[in-house]
Amino acid sequence: MKLRAKFNLMLGVVFSIGLGFSGYLSYTQLNENARNEVLGNAGVLMESLLAARTWAVKEVGPNLRETEDDEFLMMGVPPYVANKLMEDVKKRYPEFGYREVALNPMNPKDHPADWEAKIVDQFRSQPDYKEHWGIRQTPTGPMLYLARPINIPSSGCLGCHSKPENAPAHLVKEYGSSAGFGWKLKEIVGAQIVSVPMAIPIANAQRMFITFMGALSGVFLVLFVLLDVMLVRLIIKPLGAMAQAANEISKGNLEISEFNESGKDEVAYLAVSFNRMRRSLVKALAMFNRTSGAK
Ligand code: HEC
Repeated sequence: MKLRAKFNLMLGVVFSIGLGFSGYLSYTQLNENARNEVLGNAGVLMESLLAARTWAVKEVGPNLRETEDDEFLMMGVPPYVANKLMEDVKKRYPEFGYREVALNPMNPKDHPADWEAKIVDQFRSQPDYKEHWGIRQTPTGPMLYLARPINIPSSGCLGCHSKPENAPAHLVKEYGSSAGFGWKLKEIVGAQIVSVPMAIPIANAQRMFITFMGALSGVFLVLFVLLDVMLVRLIIKPLGAMAQAANEISKGNLEISEFNESGKDEVAYLAVSFNRMRRSLVKALAMFNRTSGAK
């Protein structure tokens, strides 16, 4: 194998490994960043909805009177307030989702789907487990979900969720008395689940990945061509010429022109030595011819 082929092969292997390694690292890092960004958005949304719930429970609920009209009384119902808020958020971010599910819900639409029920079960079996997140494939693309357990922190909740006879009349009239009751203090009854789409951050991460890899491949390609040209000009060409000259000399042809001696690198040094060797050889031969002619 020729020097140039060996060198280029080695460069090719090193560049491919470098490209593969940086590709893997940047791909995982960019995807992780995209996921963290979405998780951050989900966290902010969750906190805002929690704040709305707390406000409903602490500030609004205690100040409402049964004499007020039904719609106004709903302002004291935490999921009602959170869902109302979410309706506005969805006007701007239609793919975002929020659910408050319970295993025994007052509103049948809050019945958990299979995957949601699993999360609630997990929260119920591990009371120390405070947050759960994951990614689900949906028809509209991957969605990141963030879930937190809903427990019954105070007896205030039981005013509506313990027994139908204790609950406000308008509530029983609206929702019936069969479900959403019998909850106990400190019991984990369900979960809050925020869903945020991942399609756009993933597409952004992919675009960044392609740009980065394109730029890196470009740099490697330029480097490859540059190193190849330098190798040919600085080493392979002068060495080849010297090898050819040595070949000529070995055949007895000493009439070859001198090599360019400019420069301070090893090849220039070799050219100087080569020229000197050729001149010595010429002199030695002339001397030899003279002495052998004198005989
Ligand atoms: C004023 C009565 C009232 C109070 C107080 C109340 N809730 Fe509810 N709760 C409701 C009603 C009504 C619904 C159904 C809302 C709907 O239609 O989405 C509901 C729904 C829920 C849901 C959604 C699942 C379901 O049953 O539909 C959860 C979870 C929940 N409440 C938890 C709580 C917690 C925790 C507290 C205390 C911090 C609380 N609630 C206090 C009346 C109340």
